[in-house]
Amino acid sequence: MHDIVSKGISHGIYIVTVRTKNTINGMTAALISQVSFHPLMLMVSVAPERYTHGLIKESGYFAINTLAENQKDIVKHFGFKSGRKIDKFKGISYFDAPNGSPVLSEAIAFFECRLADTFKAGDHTLFIGEVVTAKLLKSDIQPMIFRRGDFFLVPSYLQNQNIFRRDFLYLFQKYFILPHQR
Ligand SMILES: Cc1cc2nc3c(=O)[nH]c(=O)nc-3n(C[C@H](O)[C@H](O)[C@H](O)COP(=O)(O)O)c2cc1C
Repeated sequence: MHDIVSKGISHGIYIVTVRTKNTINGMTAALISQVSFHPLMLMVSVAPERYTHGLIKESGYFAINTLAENQKDIVKHFGFKSGRKIDKFKGISYFDAPNGSPVLSEAIAFFECRLADTFKAGDHTLFIGEVVTAKLLKSDIQPMIFRRGDFFLVPSYLQNQNIFRRDFLYLFQKYFILPHQR
């Protein structure tokens, strides 16, 4: 069923950033949605194994950074390595939102959220944030759409073989669904 979801449900793709007393970090997230108009609320679904998960709980604030179509390198930078092992902000230009969440200077928009609620949803936690600051940093630029094939590629020699589905799901789950602690 995962492959059908990937064809039938579309997402944007964002960098969720956070500051605690001791550190800053960010991770790529596709599982993000607006969930309320009044108050304006956004939701990000984060696996408990992500370093960012504990940092958001500790901080009480997080920011959602919107990327443009041509910023796949940033998606990979924040999405394939954990902040437990490296400083993902090294060499990355950013500024602070009013409550301290780091905002990527390259983002086309950002939303700083106060953590309002959390819910367990299967193997993820839903963080519901009330938007306290929202800014469009670059107008007339379309936000990036998440196409799984852009980030979870299956080698072409496997694509017409029976193992394609299994291999795709393996790669997809390794990097996206199942926890990874690299
Ligand atoms: C395209 C893409 C989308 C992702 N979306 C999510 C997501 O919505 N939720 C999640 O928990 N992890 C998601 N991930 C995985 C995290 O970004 C990844 O595990 C990251 O290394 C976690 O970093 P951290 O340990 O520093 O928090 C995604 C990864 C990629 C490449």
